[in-house]
Amino acid sequence: MNYKSFLLALALCPAVMRATDVKSPDGRLVVSVDLQNGTPVYKVNYDKREVVKKSKLGFELYENFQDRKVIDFQNNFEKLKEVTSTFDDTWSPVWGEESSIRNNYNSLTLELKHNDGRLMNICFRVFNDGIGFRYEFPQQGATNYYFIKEEKSEFAMAGDNMAWWIPGDYDTQEYSYTTCKLSEIAGKMPSVLKAHEGNSSSTTFSNTGVQTSLQMKTPDGLYVNIHEAALVDYPCMHLNLDDKNLTFTSWLTPDATGMKGYIQAPFHTPWRTIMITDSATKALASRLILNLNEPCALDDVSWIHPTKYVGVWWAMITGKNTWAYTDLPNVKIDETRYDKCEPNGKHLANNDSVRRYIDFASKHGFSEVLVEGWNKGWEDWFGKTKEYVFDFLTPYPDFDIKALNDYAHSKGVKLMMHHETSGSARNYERHMDQAYQLMKKYGYDAVKSGYVGPILPRGEYHYGQWMVNHYLYAIKKAADYKIMVNAHEAVRPTGLCRTYPNLVGNESARGTEYEAFGGNTPDHTTILPFTRLQGGPMDYTPGIFEMNISKFADNSSKVNSTLARQLGLYVTMYSPLQMAADMPEHYEQFMDAFQFIKDVAIDWDKSVYLEAEPGDYITIARKAKGSEDWFVGNTSDENGHQSVLKLDFLTPGKKYTATIYADAKNADYQNNPQAYTIKKQTVTSKSVLKLKAARGGGYAISIKAN
Ligand code: NOJ
Ligand code: CA
Repeated sequence: MNYKSFLLALALCPAVMRATDVKSPDGRLVVSVDLQNGTPVYKVNYDKREVVKKSKLGFELYENFQDRKVIDFQNNFEKLKEVTSTFDDTWSPVWGEESSIRNNYNSLTLELKHNDGRLMNICFRVFNDGIGFRYEFPQQGATNYYFIKEEKSEFAMAGDNMAWWIPGDYDTQEYSYTTCKLSEIAGKMPSVLKAHEGNSSSTTFSNTGVQTSLQMKTPDGLYVNIHEAALVDYPCMHLNLDDKNLTFTSWLTPDATGMKGYIQAPFHTPWRTIMITDSATKALASRLILNLNEPCALDDVSWIHPTKYVGVWWAMITGKNTWAYTDLPNVKIDETRYDKCEPNGKHLANNDSVRRYIDFASKHGFSEVLVEGWNKGWEDWFGKTKEYVFDFLTPYPDFDIKALNDYAHSKGVKLMMHHETSGSARNYERHMDQAYQLMKKYGYDAVKSGYVGPILPRGEYHYGQWMVNHYLYAIKKAADYKIMVNAHEAVRPTGLCRTYPNLVGNESARGTEYEAFGGNTPDHTTILPFTRLQGGPMDYTPGIFEMNISKFADNSSKVNSTLARQLGLYVTMYSPLQMAADMPEHYEQFMDAFQFIKDVAIDWDKSVYLEAEPGDYITIARKAKGSEDWFVGNTSDENGHQSVLKLDFLTPGKKYTATIYADAKNADYQNNPQAYTIKKQTVTSKSVLKLKAARGGGYAISIKAN
């Protein structure tokens, strides 16, 4: 070989091609992308420290649906081109933690061709606080269909990171978090699964499988989070850990046939995200996931509004009352004559009680009242994998839908609709138009939906591609009717609320309801903002004032929180939809503390993350949208927390009145949860407040401009 042909061979040989570096705008984060022996690989450094080691990218495909012959789509690529660009823009969310968000990144797209002739691009975006990458499948004549056996995106961790994790599961996210090193996950998995055996649907897949958003901390103190953004028409990604090599590989949710996904080009996958920051507060401040979503797709958003609500709910969840009108063992909703049935006497969604909740909401300034158990079918909704459970249209005989909505409207309040699908998604789709039309007819503008139990069509999973498409179908159709959606048990959010801001909430994690099913761990709310909330707001339903549930229901569960911490959660658990979840009779006993829930804002100009450590404590200050008022909240774990808060976020020279709702000296989530103090004082930007959160405690401050 002469010198010239050697150089040519060198240029064409993938094995010796040089990696391309893409840097974040501030230069601290560097992603190196390469094609090595035909395999796309990347690695990530932060401040010259290795965070993600060399990791492979690609897929295993099936030839087609019937013949599941495997195609290796991770090796045998050649590079066609590299395209780089820079983006810098600022946008305003319809609602959010701040009124203006900067979206600034450098990008690289690697254009590849597989040796079977198919094209695939891998696109990287590198921000100051992390990276996103996705696969793009350009349109190509007749070869447009891809059948996914598995996505093979690797995330090779450079060290044995600490992780705050929940088990990988195709059907539930309602787990408590476990905190341990990556190398310890497999050892802990059996007891974690045992402790969660009661979940209404659960399908785990590996003793090292975990869900995203996964929060980690490296041995040298960097905060690393793996998640995904813009999950559309694709299965939800879990992570499976090879704990010898500390390498995660993507693990998609399958369908009923075991296929993981169906692609028709042109197509791109969701973004795979790796957030990297040098402090915990920066992780909370990150807008990486929202920035990787598409801008708002709705022309008119004037009907979307942040909402504070109460609900005919906690009394059912705790077992005091029932959703069902009768105690019949089973019903057929088109045949059962409820008007001829004996009521069970415990049905709470009745005319008198709903009026009482409407009066309470109206008196205290809440804009909506959620009513669950208003529609027939609840007698055998759970655990039967029954297809036609609800029609979402027909009220029980003691719920006068017209009169109650008229009454609510006369008092300046709206009722909030409830659609429990019991996992029967196809049945919900059959009724959806009529159900939304019924809402419009009576003046509802928001729906809480739910997907409890195994999914129907039978064999599908909550987080498979089919259900991911269902959830978005429900959101888009709701937008056509100008309806806001808060879906429980749906796939965990990935920032789609930027594109569809009528998605005002999701549950998709273990919420306050579990305080009535055995309790949440005291550190739970110090972890959720790092994990679940990265993808979008959570309908956590805080505000429980009576921690001893046995006082009013046949239920020995205790709420693992102090009362002051319940107030702090309205600030630490960001959501444009906030519930005051307890019953009016409990709030009436503590009206001075309830004042904070009445006052707290639910939409913000600015958020300042004052101090945080996952699993320990979080303290956040937020400025109410269009106002000079600020609200501060803290939640702390079972060790409590001592804060020294500098109020230097306030406008210099201005005087404010701070009302501090704190744990009393002797407060404790187990022994004395309702002991709190309320203190008023004048503060300025120079003030420093020393505040102590009790064990399982917290505090809340409203700071009003004088
Ligand atoms: C589970 C939801 O999370 C809860 O809020 C709801 O009350 C029940 N399902 C019944 O739909
Ligand atoms: Ca739930």
